[in-house]
Amino acid sequence: MPARQRPRRSFRGQLAMSRTRVMVLGPGWVAGEHIKGYCRDPRAELVAVVGFRPEDAARCEAYRREFGFAGRYYDNLPQALAESGAQAASVCTINHMHFANAVAAAEAGLHVFCEKPLALTEEQLDTLVETAARRQVVTHVGHVVRWYSAIAALKRKVEAGLFGRLYYGEADYFHQYLGDWKTKAATGGSTWLMGGIHALDLLLHFMGYDAPVAEVYGVWQPAQWRTDFDYETASCAILRFADGRIGKVATDAESNLPYTFRLHLHGTKGGIHQALYHTHDLPPKQWARQEGHYPDDWHVAEHPFPAEISYFLDCIQRGSDSELSFARAAKAYHLLFAIERSARTGRPVKFARN
Ligand SMILES: NC(=O)c1ccc[n+]([C@@H]2O[C@H](COP(=O)([O-])OP(=O)(O)OC[C@H]3O[C@@H](n4cnc5c(N)ncnc54)[C@H](O)[C@@H]3O)[C@@H](O)[C@H]2O)c1
Repeated sequence: MPARQRPRRSFRGQLAMSRTRVMVLGPGWVAGEHIKGYCRDPRAELVAVVGFRPEDAARCEAYRREFGFAGRYYDNLPQALAESGAQAASVCTINHMHFANAVAAAEAGLHVFCEKPLALTEEQLDTLVETAARRQVVTHVGHVVRWYSAIAALKRKVEAGLFGRLYYGEADYFHQYLGDWKTKAATGGSTWLMGGIHALDLLLHFMGYDAPVAEVYGVWQPAQWRTDFDYETASCAILRFADGRIGKVATDAESNLPYTFRLHLHGTKGGIHQALYHTHDLPPKQWARQEGHYPDDWHVAEHPFPAEISYFLDCIQRGSDSELSFARAAKAYHLLFAIERSARTGRPVKFARN
């Protein structure tokens, strides 16, 4: 993983080479991948699983049988925080619960891996960043796409200058969400918070995460064929970077296509189209294929969560912040909220929270 680490800061609870005691919150679908990652990594010990609904106890036991761990099941988060001795937490509850769960864990002094989306509002975002800084905990937001081996390899090629300067970029995330909480703004947030954030984060990652964005323009439309969404489902946004470069991101929550993750980048010496790339070193009409795993499947078992969890444990044990700490990930979420403001008002929105 090409880790762009922030300068070393002082984080609490650094335990060089000892096992990190971990709790997982919300033993649902994605939590299984977190539990698998912790159980397979010798640097972690799963000491607690915290459920929020009656069926979570049985799900925890199913994961216990599958992956094998001794940690206790709790149905009460304050009790788990007080009694389990956990030093880190993975927040795998549904979107509208992330804020309360992540703040509670960080306030208790735990390092926090929060699944996406980090927050549903700008106010929540600011509180999460402030809490993490004040409690000096390592934080990480689950933008797992960066950990696909083909994506990481392409990013290394960009950093090595293979494509020259990237001057135009597109990233799209098209998927269809099934399930009650995913289609309602109160629990899922929005089409951007549900999945579009993956495309937005990746576009920034490739175009230069620290490159200031000057302005965004977003449009969206209501669901066209499903009746269960109470938020706009298809959306597209243009980003103008302060240096004049252009980005485009799009997402759709009721896509009828197989899972589609598009990455398309133009550079002064070549470019990238999904897992294909072209450089001036190749014959004019020839693409090269990037080896490795490119995002091509909706199922969480196909996502590189173990690699991402291993990275989170690295950060804890090194005592260094994640390249997707709450503070750093906040930029993508501020942009997301600016896109939504633009889509709501029909006007471009100047962006300053770089
Ligand atoms: N990084 C990724 O690619 C990725 C992939 C899938 C899911 N996710 C994220 O992971 C999180 C969990 O998703 P999931 O599909 O595993 O969720 P899920 O439906 O399996 O639920 C997870 C847990 O949330 C709690 N929960 C669910 N519905 C609830 C309700 N109505 N009231 C109270 N508690 C409830 C339960 O504890 C449950 O075990 C979401 O935030 C999702 O966005 C991320």
